[in-house]
Amino acid sequence: MENEKDIEDAKAHFEKLIKDQLERIKHLKAEGDWIDYSHIKPIIIGIIGGDGIGPEISKHTKSVLEFLLEEEMSKGKIELREIEGLTIENRAKEKKAIPDDVLAEIKKCHVLLKGPTTTPRKGDKWPNIESANVAMRRKLDLFANIRPVKVPEKNIDWVFFRENTEGAYMLGSKGIKITDDLSIDFKVITTQGSERIIRLAFEYAKRNTINKITVVTKANVVKTTDGKFLEIAKKVAKDYPKIEWDDWYIDIMTAKLIDPSRQSQFRIFVAPNLYGDIITDEAAQLQGGVGTAGSANIGKKYAMFEAIHGSAPRMVEEGRAKYADPSSMLRASIMLLDHIGLKEKAFQLERALDICTIYEKEVVLTGRSTGGTGEEFAKYIMKTVKNPDLEYKWKIHQ
Ligand code: IPM
Ligand code: MG
Repeated sequence: MENEKDIEDAKAHFEKLIKDQLERIKHLKAEGDWIDYSHIKPIIIGIIGGDGIGPEISKHTKSVLEFLLEEEMSKGKIELREIEGLTIENRAKEKKAIPDDVLAEIKKCHVLLKGPTTTPRKGDKWPNIESANVAMRRKLDLFANIRPVKVPEKNIDWVFFRENTEGAYMLGSKGIKITDDLSIDFKVITTQGSERIIRLAFEYAKRNTINKITVVTKANVVKTTDGKFLEIAKKVAKDYPKIEWDDWYIDIMTAKLIDPSRQSQFRIFVAPNLYGDIITDEAAQLQGGVGTAGSANIGKKYAMFEAIHGSAPRMVEEGRAKYADPSSMLRASIMLLDHIGLKEKAFQLERALDICTIYEKEVVLTGRSTGGTGEEFAKYIMKTVKNPDLEYKWKIHQ
């Protein structure tokens, strides 16, 4: 038979993937409880610079955190720890998405703040290693990607819950090129993986008394996997009878997100991985661009907070790294502080950032010498946090 060997190889490859996934489900079923930070001292915050503009914006974010957490650090409650080596050069050299020694350091931290890391594409000068983000999400089982987007003047107040480990990403590097003419990728949806993200979204809604959840799939076409996600949403929703929910297909969802008559009606979204990836960029653009958005990657044991934009190598090549905007990492830091229980600090930073970037804008970054530098911006944030009028400035804008 033609291609017999190709077919046998593909079958063996597929069999291995299925076995791995069934094994993974066993672990999901035996999953423990959420980590409780109130018993941990010090809580170690690992700061990963990443590539391109990453080290620059991380440096400024770190100085803001040092300023904000001075007391906690001096009392030994918090430790800030720099993690070296998650650079494209080092990853390319080791041919690993995350080199083993770097992963070992990462695992010694409780939470992480991560700068952007370059993801090589086919044809780049780098070997085609997997995205460090994707690998970290999977290795630390950071199953929930939470991305808030706010545009107050349009009454937009959204929180996206993107499933972060499964879907089209789970085996994104494990597709099969069967012959020169045929390539097949896989998409994985599990009951456990879907249920935990959907439940988290409903729990969040309940805790914050938000009465609206929107489930996003393409279950009319991608029937088996997306169909399962939607079925599980239906089941989970029954446990929250007071929360209203609806479901949309990803195509019409992307349209409705920019429909002024609909925008303010949405509140919380929950979606499988790739759809979540796409609509969160669209949503971030409505807020002012992907550079303005932060993102939380949360699992039961670890959590990682990051900018959602890329490493902007062109800015570095053109000598503009110092003009890179650290807002995204600062927004990510707000979520980090909130996550580890430092709610007041998170609120302080959020107020200062809103004042500096939305209302007052004494230092505006343009990514070029026409605007301020990241360092000037960080100083402006610190000055604003320290300003005794912070409360007042904040209130007049509410
Ligand atoms: C994101 C990014 C990543 C993703 C890339 C860098 C792999 O787009 O965090 O949304 O697709 O998840
Ligand atoms: Mg993305």
